[in-house]
Amino acid sequence: MEKYYITTPIYYPSGKFHIGTAYTTVVADTVKKYKKLRGYDTYLLTGLDEHGQKIQTVAEKNNMKLQEYVDYMANLSKDLWKKMQIQYDDFIRTTEPRHEKVVQEIFEKFLANGDIYKGTYEGMYCVPCETYFTKTQLVDGKCPDCGRDVVLMKEEAYFFNMKKYADRLVKLYEENDFITPEFRKTEMINNFIKPGLEDLCVTRTNFDWGIKVKSDPKHVVYVWLDALTNYITALGYLSEDDTKFKKYWPADLQIVGKDIARFHLIYWPIFLMALDLPIPKKILVHNWIMMKDGKMSKSKGNVIYPELLIERYGLDATRYFLLREMPVVQDEVFSPESFVERYNFDLCNDLGNLVNRTVSMVNKYFNGIVPTYLGQINESDKDLEEYTKNQIKLVEEYLEKFEFASSLQEIWNIISRTNKYIDETTPWVLAKNGETEKLASAMNHLIENIRKIAILLLPYMESTAQNILNQIGLSNVENTWDSLYELDKIPNNSKVIETGKPLFMRLNAEEEIEYIKNEMNK
Ligand code: MSP
Repeated sequence: MEKYYITTPIYYPSGKFHIGTAYTTVVADTVKKYKKLRGYDTYLLTGLDEHGQKIQTVAEKNNMKLQEYVDYMANLSKDLWKKMQIQYDDFIRTTEPRHEKVVQEIFEKFLANGDIYKGTYEGMYCVPCETYFTKTQLVDGKCPDCGRDVVLMKEEAYFFNMKKYADRLVKLYEENDFITPEFRKTEMINNFIKPGLEDLCVTRTNFDWGIKVKSDPKHVVYVWLDALTNYITALGYLSEDDTKFKKYWPADLQIVGKDIARFHLIYWPIFLMALDLPIPKKILVHNWIMMKDGKMSKSKGNVIYPELLIERYGLDATRYFLLREMPVVQDEVFSPESFVERYNFDLCNDLGNLVNRTVSMVNKYFNGIVPTYLGQINESDKDLEEYTKNQIKLVEEYLEKFEFASSLQEIWNIISRTNKYIDETTPWVLAKNGETEKLASAMNHLIENIRKIAILLLPYMESTAQNILNQIGLSNVENTWDSLYELDKIPNNSKVIETGKPLFMRLNAEEEIEYIKNEMNK
């Protein structure tokens, strides 16, 4: 079985996760579920990036011991992923001995090979972002990322010799197509590589919540060398049992947001080169969910937490919205209006009604028993079959390119075409005229298409997909991805449920828009 290893970034446990953080994880989970359906041996890694000054400060603010605080946050995030039906295979925490031990070894390896040297660091430092900036990087003398004040700092530190690898990195970019979207590669070359790669400071002495350097314990390993290596330490790299590492590395897909692209597209491949390890096959950089007034932030009172949407509208509506509306290649503004609109139109009307109408017709005309495939009896049968087949190919092609919005759009085109098929065949007229064969073929085609729609939705919204399969009486049939290309998949005497249940209840648009807006400001 071919393997497929996917990673999300490891998140900072500095506060409750908002939908921006959840977005990366939902994307990763969708890809995982899709690849699993396509027969891959999938492995999804997520986790927490628990070290650093910022975490230390937050823990103190919460009057909690550091370890106690990160344990609490780890549980909180595991609960959220459970709620969001994220099928992760491992959850790595950078405070775990399995990670710390290996980071120490990697550090010593780099030191021995001359990749890391000792020097002095001086720079403008942003404490909340834990990042040093050069003067030219500052915006109006402030942190270019968060806009807050920076301070001049100087300290003895270890550096990673990035310059040594600059040429090899460019060659890697030229020879490997490992960055999606392509423009991120150009961005890296123009903004960071051409102006000359700067060596990366990889230790700190100004805080101690980190992994101590084995040969020089007054230094702690600075976040990026600590954080990035999680993708291999979690698999057991350099540990007694490295079976998973041997099996799953290199990663097939690493998903990151645009703000951490630089670390993953420049430093990460260089660390891997220095370790003589293969680089990941694909790094997908996605854009950001924005709010009308800019970035989400507590102080602006414009933060959306996933729980808000999940508890009121259900997980699948939330996942659907994130993947249908939100950004892979450009920033998108979250709007309560479009959330409610997508819910009412796409989910409730288009999808919900199709399933509901069909289930009640099969009950009404055939006592719930789904007629078997008879061939192309109605004029529209052939067209529906061919259209659907082509669409399935498109859905697949977009998913392979990680273009989730387009892929969902194509699924919704199938839904619309299937709804139109009802208008074309007018089953109620066929019933009135006693044209039983035509009516049977219409019901068979409808159920068959709904089966396909449900399978296509499995990676995106698993519960809804299962619910649909259950309503059309096909939850126990083998609903494989390959079966999407087959027509005659409904067994004899297959039965739909007696009374269809609406998949999504229609929302009062005005009320709900108000509700979301109010909750955002709490
Ligand atoms: N700990 C580092 C990552 C280390 S990976 C070796 C980190 N953590 S984070 O918690 O700050 O951010 C994690 C991810 O959430 C990033 O990929 C980031 O881009 C993403 N997002 C944060 N806000 C976001 C939006 N508003 N929209 C979409 N994604 C966003 O960085």
